[in-house]
Amino acid sequence: MRLEPITPHIGIEVQDIDLREPMADEDFAKVRAALNHHSLLLFRNQRIDEGQHVAFSRRFDPLLGHVLKQFLKQQHPEVYVLSNVRENGAPIGNHKEGWNWHSDLSYKTEPSLGALLHALEVPPVEGDTWFSSMHAAWEALDAQTQALIRPLRATHSYAGYYGKAFADRAPLSQAQKAATPDVSHPLVRTHPETGRLSLYVGEDVVKCIEGLPEHESAALLARLNAHATSERFAYRHRWRAGDLLVWDNRCTMHRATPYDDVAYRRVMHRTTVAGDRPF
Ligand code: SIN
Repeated sequence: MRLEPITPHIGIEVQDIDLREPMADEDFAKVRAALNHHSLLLFRNQRIDEGQHVAFSRRFDPLLGHVLKQFLKQQHPEVYVLSNVRENGAPIGNHKEGWNWHSDLSYKTEPSLGALLHALEVPPVEGDTWFSSMHAAWEALDAQTQALIRPLRATHSYAGYYGKAFADRAPLSQAQKAATPDVSHPLVRTHPETGRLSLYVGEDVVKCIEGLPEHESAALLARLNAHATSERFAYRHRWRAGDLLVWDNRCTMHRATPYDDVAYRRVMHRTTVAGDRPF
């Protein structure tokens, strides 16, 4: 196994690994350490099936489902499908998921540790995914801003995100709303394995910064989101079919980008690893 950094602040490519084969414990320990230190792993050319994807994902920790159950694979309900493809008149996956900056499942009390996204079909152009290091974003803030935001908390809302991202769809059902109440998280969180701090923000999913008047909350949030998503902390991934990306939701944000969804198909399988309460 060889490790080749992608950028100085985020991403490392793990080479000479075939994820169809079970990974030795000592190799997995290196992979896990690389995730803690580089926040994003790239495995190219992986011809894994859903069962192999789930088995590798489970090495990180138990997996989470998703409130949009219609997009989970029947045989492997840990696999959430992201796609523009329709079969028999119905979408096979959630289209336009994550087209804003976010960290997965931040709307839960215990958000996701990380996610593994496997590209099955990708458009020949566009449809890239951006990733940004929230460690780098936090460390680049001036001392005055760090002191200001360190004690603050923000409200994360799935209903708020869904209403903005999917305004053209049927609203969430009562059961879906009840399963995703708003939650409060610190604006600055500690990586539970490395102790490093990171900025914990997000676009549509973060409703407000608690305890501030509405206009101050909106202005500070806009400023922090703009800072966090600056290209100097980011990496843009150009997908190839067979790529598997693993990212650490505790210290990164990401955003998918549009493509010509009439001309091209994009089919991605995501598993989402359970995490713990941010502190
Ligand atoms: C997501 O998991 O937020 C979507 C990423 C992508 O489709 O590239």
